[in-house]
Amino acid sequence: MKTLRFNNGDELDAIGLGTWKSEPDKVQEAVISALKTGYKHIDCLAVYGNEAEIGHALQEAFQKNIIARKNLWITSKLWNNAHKAEDVIPALKQTLTDLQLDYLDLYLIHWPVAFRPDLKGSPEKDEDFLSLEEAPIIETWEAMLEAKSQGLVKHLGVANFSVKKLKDLIAKTDDPPEMNQVELHPFLHQDELLKFCHSNNIHLTAYSPLGSGDRSSEMKADDEPSLLDNEVIKSLAQQHEVTPAQILIAFHLHRHTAVIPKSTNSKRIKENLDSANVVLTEEDMAQLKSLDRHYRYVKGKFFKTSNGMYSNIYDE
Ligand code: A2P
Repeated sequence: MKTLRFNNGDELDAIGLGTWKSEPDKVQEAVISALKTGYKHIDCLAVYGNEAEIGHALQEAFQKNIIARKNLWITSKLWNNAHKAEDVIPALKQTLTDLQLDYLDLYLIHWPVAFRPDLKGSPEKDEDFLSLEEAPIIETWEAMLEAKSQGLVKHLGVANFSVKKLKDLIAKTDDPPEMNQVELHPFLHQDELLKFCHSNNIHLTAYSPLGSGDRSSEMKADDEPSLLDNEVIKSLAQQHEVTPAQILIAFHLHRHTAVIPKSTNSKRIKENLDSANVVLTEEDMAQLKSLDRHYRYVKGKFFKTSNGMYSNIYDE
């Protein structure tokens, strides 16, 4: 398995199990199945409400000696309603309680967007948001650094950050993010972001690598292109005698990023990990480059305010 190496020598398995959209009643079995299959990297998030079930799975895995805590990498993310400095450590501690862990390997600011601390669901009106003046990213970041200094987390990062937002944060701190988790796949190469991150010692993790076909209908466009049904990807799969999903996962291994395909199906969980054996050639990558159309499945349009404060979330 390819790994990403951090400054302190820690290594992250490039293929991890994604758990966004994994229903609470299925995720426990999925995590156990993944750990038995050989996954050592699980990507979690507080907002989806399935971390307690993942915690049960991790406890079971430790008790049954399926994997030891020190060999496992657990990532989670700070939700938008906990950006105020005083809310960061309590949110992280809640995640640790739910996951039944003493520390996380990686904690990310989920979005460069802040909600009011008491907002439980989705924002519906302007007052549900905090402006960047009310909740500056640097203050959230400094609270994340404090969590790290308390030993609650080993590595820190962000998600859904553009080059512009990364530059802004890097300029304000001596301890910059080590990871940026963003949507990446052959329809969305984001080469400029990849180059910037890699030349600034920031790793990338690709979310929605298979096109996240299980998103809710409100999150889907009618004319969405399909990665898994794409002819170029299907033909590469045929040539390598693997599945289209495996080509889509191997694409990220070639680009030296991590990738977190989500599945709750044990056969597909194994299939996705087995992508580690698929080696794409430069010619294959050139064919995949021809598919780049800067298409986002996760459009980030759900952060609507009348003044457009968060309308251009990706700065493009
Ligand atoms: P399932 O959980 O039933 O396996 P993404 O990782 O881009 O968010 O995509 C997740 C979606 O892709 C889910 O609907 C998941 O379904 C499906 N999926 C996961 N692995 C595979 C695979 N190997 N082949 C086809 N579909 C897959």
